[in-house]
Amino acid sequence: MELRIMVTGATGTMGSELLKILTRQGIDAVAVSRSLERLPAGVRGMQLPFENRYLLEQALRNVDVLAFIQPLCEDMLKQAENVIAAARASGVQFVLKVSGLGASPVSPYLFQRIQGDADEMLQESGLRYCILRPNIYMQCFLKIHHEALMQGILYLPQGEGRTSFVDARDVAEVAAKILGDPWLYNKKTLELTGERALSNAEAVSLIAHYSQRRLAYVPVTDEAGLKLLKKNEENEWMVQALMSLHRATRSGAVAPVTSGLAQFLGREPRSFETFCADMKQGWMLPLAQENLL
Ligand SMILES: NC(=O)c1ccc[n+]([C@@H]2O[C@H](COP(=O)([O-])OP(=O)(O)OC[C@H]3O[C@@H](n4cnc5c(N)ncnc54)[C@H](OP(=O)(O)O)[C@@H]3O)[C@@H](O)[C@H]2O)c1
Repeated sequence: MELRIMVTGATGTMGSELLKILTRQGIDAVAVSRSLERLPAGVRGMQLPFENRYLLEQALRNVDVLAFIQPLCEDMLKQAENVIAAARASGVQFVLKVSGLGASPVSPYLFQRIQGDADEMLQESGLRYCILRPNIYMQCFLKIHHEALMQGILYLPQGEGRTSFVDARDVAEVAAKILGDPWLYNKKTLELTGERALSNAEAVSLIAHYSQRRLAYVPVTDEAGLKLLKKNEENEWMVQALMSLHRATRSGAVAPVTSGLAQFLGREPRSFETFCADMKQGWMLPLAQENLL
């Protein structure tokens, strides 16, 4: 019998790619968002906030396998607790959870610590599970850093720190393969990175090359980084989480390269060059003439 699959975070960076793959494969997964209009036409959507335990339990009664993608946020643990408890109560058979590289309850970095705590909750729940720990997505340059790059300079307090950025499309491929036969991956944790670690200067210079724009990365002090962050982010917890990500990057904590993706997919991860070539339109929107090389 076909497994009944639900994907949460289906409008997000990786979730939306996962949904595309499942749709291409003809798999009729239920896609979750807090707002149905955000979901692509033609998918079976469900409006389901992680805060509503009652609705979660109702919805999960019709689910065998849950791909659990949640946002990195202050309420992450409460959300995970709700989803995991509802999954147990509703008879969900398998949970595929998306976490992050370096996740650990004893990490010195806030964002890795909260991911580690949420992972541990699932590991101790008695549910069958698999955990994906991808590094920072290449797509962050399109989403989080898009505005800065459109203006030409990316200021971050990450020094010369390197990151083994991974393409969210590769992570989605791994997730889709696991959803196809989850029982093979019970209790597995996969660390997923790109094929090499890049500094921000190198990454931005590649984006500049492929998008034919004049772009630069400028490392700034923690103090200046904090000021910039606070201009766009009001939530103090998120400010602290992002500052801890900057410190992690500076210290090399997100630089390790793993072979997890190549071993799992039987091919090399997409390179940053491939990502830039595929996404170059993303940096070509309102382009001032003088910004052209
Ligand atoms: N971004 C990265 O580089 C990266 C790298 C490695 C791991 N991760 C991990 O991947 C996860 C997702 O991160 P992301 O950056 O990919 O996030 P994202 O693109 O912002 O997606 C977050 C998703 O969560 C949904 N969501 C938000 N609040 C919700 C709520 N209260 N109830 C139900 N759904 C809710 C959003 O859907 P709607 O807004 O449509 O409701 C959206 O689909 C995080 O746990 C993060 O730690 C991210």
